[in-house]
Formats: sequence, structure tokens, C-alpha cells
Amino acid sequence: MQQYDYSSFHYCEAPSIVSGSIPGENSRVLLDKQEQYESNNRSYPRSMPVAFRSSMGSVIEDVDGNRFLDFFSGCGVVNLGHNNPVIMEGMQQQMDKVIHALDFPTEIKIAFMENLNAMLPDSLRDKVKFNFCGPTGADAVEAAIKIAKINTKRDSIFSFQGAFHGMTAAALSVTSNDYNRKQLKAHGGQVSFFPYSYCYRCPFGKKADSCKLECARFLRNALENPGSGVDTPCAIIIEPIQGEGGTIIPREGYLEEVVKIGNDHHIPVIFDEIQVGFYRSGKLFSFEHTNAVPDLVTVSKGIGGIGMPLALLLIRKELDIWTKATHTGTFRGNQLSIAAGNAALRFVQETNVLEHANAVGEYMLDALREIQKRSKYIGEVRGRGLVFGLEYVKDINTKEPFTEFVGKLRNNCLQKGLLFETGGHYDNVIRFLPPLVTTKNMVDRFLDIFERANYALEQEIQ
Ligand SMILES: Cc1ncc(COP(=O)(O)O)c(C=O)c1O
Repeated sequence: MQQYDYSSFHYCEAPSIVSGSIPGENSRVLLDKQEQYESNNRSYPRSMPVAFRSSMGSVIEDVDGNRFLDFFSGCGVVNLGHNNPVIMEGMQQQMDKVIHALDFPTEIKIAFMENLNAMLPDSLRDKVKFNFCGPTGADAVEAAIKIAKINTKRDSIFSFQGAFHGMTAAALSVTSNDYNRKQLKAHGGQVSFFPYSYCYRCPFGKKADSCKLECARFLRNALENPGSGVDTPCAIIIEPIQGEGGTIIPREGYLEEVVKIGNDHHIPVIFDEIQVGFYRSGKLFSFEHTNAVPDLVTVSKGIGGIGMPLALLLIRKELDIWTKATHTGTFRGNQLSIAAGNAALRFVQETNVLEHANAVGEYMLDALREIQKRSKYIGEVRGRGLVFGLEYVKDINTKEPFTEFVGKLRNNCLQKGLLFETGGHYDNVIRFLPPLVTTKNMVDRFLDIFERANYALEQEIQ
């Protein structure tokens, strides 16, 4: 096993802001040109106005030479670090062979499936088929819903409050966010949203010592009470840790109960591992921290190692009843992406990256909890592996969401060279998703700047 300390995987001097403020002059020029040519659909450059030119490890550099500590990772995508040389080498080797091969078998594709199958938990190894999807997470969600409908011949679906599953028609329909849903009412069948196990804001008013998993009971009741007003669905789709919803880690026993409810009613359960899968939580899949076993699993983002587009649906063999060409797509199984995915799997198998990431994750969680003690507005710190959420509230007792603080803090941190994501049911959660190769030293630098910015903003608004 290759033992790295990972310090050589990154640009060394970061963060470093040399342009005075962000955006710098060169970024401004490109942002203006972007506005001229690119649709209003542009999203991230509005909240983080920068134009990038190069990247290495956990550092990304803009066109003015500013270097940012990237704890955003392209929204949980570059799990093994920007331009990880081992993954690049795997892609380079494939470049000389074949790049586009539709869904024909190739040596690299077979190697990838064999490796992935070998790395699956016992509950899924040799028990699932892999479906290559159009290379975005949303298409994996579309495929999952489609095959669930084919299996059950039902039309309606259950999802959860705070869920994000993507922006294509069916995926959007199971996404709960108000703004997103209002853009398009897409899905034909009934979609019912149930409370997630969000203990910090339990809708049943329970505390840890009084909780009897009322959220799961509520779900069961919807199926067992003939007067509930909801149809038995084709599937229950759930994120084992809610990502965009604010890094919400459900209570112990909850996912198992959701699966049991699905099994009791012959409803396939889809675990959406697109954001928290591929070792972000410390294990290949975040559901592996529980005893829950899904029927269908969606995978994308991190599986491409360094941001190569790849999306998969894992299907229990007995559900794989669709016939040929039921979910086609020209770019399913891009060979360069598969080569990157295969190199990523081997990187995890052959190096100490997991041990490293888990140690850094624990270190960072402890440090964030210390920061919480010194902060006025951090209501809760959540984390597992290398995915974190800091929920901001105006008052620790009333828990009134402090959304404006989060937006300002993100911008102030951008000016200091820190990149991270925000989210949450109320858009009041700061989310860190650093690459797994991030070092403790980088975490120290990041958190030092973050805490100063947090403190300064607290002082400013008093
Ligand atoms: C849990 C989850 N599912 C699905 C998606 C959609 O993936 P994509 O944006 O690649 O379509 C996302 C994206 O953030 C996600 O976090």
C-alpha cells in the first residue's frame, strides 16, 4: 500500500489573494463575457464571482493568480483532489485507446465494474447490476424512478422534506426545495414529501430522549392508514445523508426503518448516494454506516475521481427486468470517465487515502465543535467523514434561521481565499466538502481564516 502524506498533491501557497479584492480584473473580464454569451441559467458564478484557470489538489487558482482553498470541491465532486496525478495517468493511458464507445464492452469498462463490484459492501456485492447513465446525477435518478415504475406498475412516489435529487423532470419533481419546484411541475404522478429525520428541527417536537422515530412512524402511517390520502408509491427515494438539505445525518435506526417500511409494502427503496457516496462519508456509501440495505442506488459526482462525468445506477438483480434500450443515452459510459473512475477505485484500494481522510475528518469535526463554542450563531455542527454542515441561527434557543449571515460569511470568506458550499432547508447552513487528500495543515489554515471571518461578522452585526 502506497503511504502518502498528501502534502505534495496541492499547490503549496494557499490561500493567497493577490488581486486586492475578488473578483480581480481578469476575472471581471471573463465574467462579463460569460454574461454576454451564456444563458441566465448561470448559477455558482453569481454567488462566487471568479473565473478559474488551474487547480491542484485542494487548491484552485483564478485568472488573476489568486489561490483558493477549495472546500467546495465542485460541489462534492473532486473527491480525490483536483488533477490528482494518479487519476490523470489512468486517463492518459485510456486516451491512446478509445474514448467514445457507446455502451459496447471495453477492457476498461469491464475492469471498472469488476473493481467496483469487489468494493461493494457484502449486502450488494454480486447482487446488483450496473446501469451506466447519461453522465449526470439527475439521469441516474431518472433511471431509478423509471425502473421502479416498471417493476411496480405504479406512478406515485415518496420523497422527503429537504431532498435534492437533480434538475431533470422526474428528479426535480422529487426535489423539495420551494424555488426549484416552482420552476416546473414535471412529474405526472403524485409526489408526497415526508419529514426527514432532522433532529435539530424535529417537526414532532421530540428530543433525543423522547424520540421514538416518529418521522418513520408517520411514513408508515401514510401507507397503512386507508384514509391517509396517498397512493402506494412506485418507490421511496431518500438521501442517506441529506446533502443540499444541509448535511443532515439521520438518527440511528431511521434508515433501517424506512427500508423496512418499503419491504413491508413491496416498495423499492432508492438510496441517492450522488453527493455523499464515493468515500465522502468515510465509506464507499454513506448507508454503510447503518444496517439499511437499499434496492437501488444512484451514484455520480465523486465516482469520477477528479470531476470526470460519470453516473451509475445500481440495481438489485431481481429488479433488473427492463428490456434493451429502455434508458439509453449517447454519452453513457464515456471511456475517459470510466478510466478516471477505475483509477479512482484503485487509488482508494492501493493508498492510505481513506485512513488519511478519516483522521482529517475527525480532526476537523473536533475543531469545528470548538469554533461553535466560541461562536454566537452556530446552532449545530454536523459531520461524518469529510462532509460537514454548520447550521446558523439568530438565537440558539428559538433556532430562527440566520440565512443572511451565511450569505455574507460566504462572500467574506471568498475575499480571503476560501471556497465552500451553502445549503439547508432554510439556506442557513455552511457546508464543507474538502477533497479526501486535504491535509491537517490545510484544515488548520482554512479554519483559522474561517473563524476570524465568522468572528468579524458577528462583531459587525452586533
Ligand atoms: C443527492 C443528489 N442527487 C442528485 C443530484 C443531481 O446531480 P447532477 O447535478 O449531477 O445532475 C445532486 C446534485 O447536487 C445531489 O446532491
